[in-house]
Formats: sequence, structure tokens, C-alpha cells
Amino acid sequence: MHRRIFVDVQGLTCPTKKSQEIMDALKASVARHGLAAEVEVLGRGCFGLCRMAPNLYVEPEGIWYSKLKLEDVEEIVEKHLVGGKIVRRLVAYSPHNAGGCAGGERNDCTDGT
Ligand code: FES
Repeated sequence: MHRRIFVDVQGLTCPTKKSQEIMDALKASVARHGLAAEVEVLGRGCFGLCRMAPNLYVEPEGIWYSKLKLEDVEEIVEKHLVGGKIVRRLVAYSPHNAGGCAGGERNDCTDGT
């Protein structure tokens, strides 16, 4: 499966929370796992999800990973990109839910979704 991963490295909030370092680590890990031909890692601007910064988006699954830490990168690569399993605990937003929440442990929504 060809994937594209977008990392906000140009918005006002994500870059203050190490999004550039996260993108650099992601690119390095993708290369180390031999996935460079099938996974593109691209920088972009604000997603409008600043309160959950830093964020990244994975296509074609339509998965948002939020409130990321540098140490989360390896888990995303190994479980999601290599293993094909979404890392639920890092998913804090889903456009498929009316409230925009996905139920991951980084979900800061108060309605229990
Ligand atoms: S600054 Fe990253 S989502 Fe707005």
C-alpha cells in the first residue's frame, strides 16, 4: 500500500512542540525499515487541530495522530506502517465521529467518545 504522511511543520503551534524533529525521525525510521519507496513523508501547514498539536495525518487510511512525542514515532512506524495496525492510543481525532473524537488515550474530549 502506498501511503502519504503529512506532518504540520509550518503552523504556529506544532513546530513549537517538536514537529520538525518528529518529521525528521519519521523519515529516518521509514528509511531504516526499507519503506521509503512506499511511504512519503511530507511537511505542510496547519491542519486546524492546534489544540492537539503536534499532529500528523496518514493517507489513505485517514488517520490523525495527535499530541505526539518523539518517542511515538517508532511505534507508529512499526505497528501502523509495518504491521498495518492503527495505534489507537495516539489517535485523538476522527472526522468520522460527529464530535470529532476517536477515543484514544490522548483524546481530551469530555463527552466520553
Ligand atoms: S499548528 Fe498544527 S494543527 Fe495548527
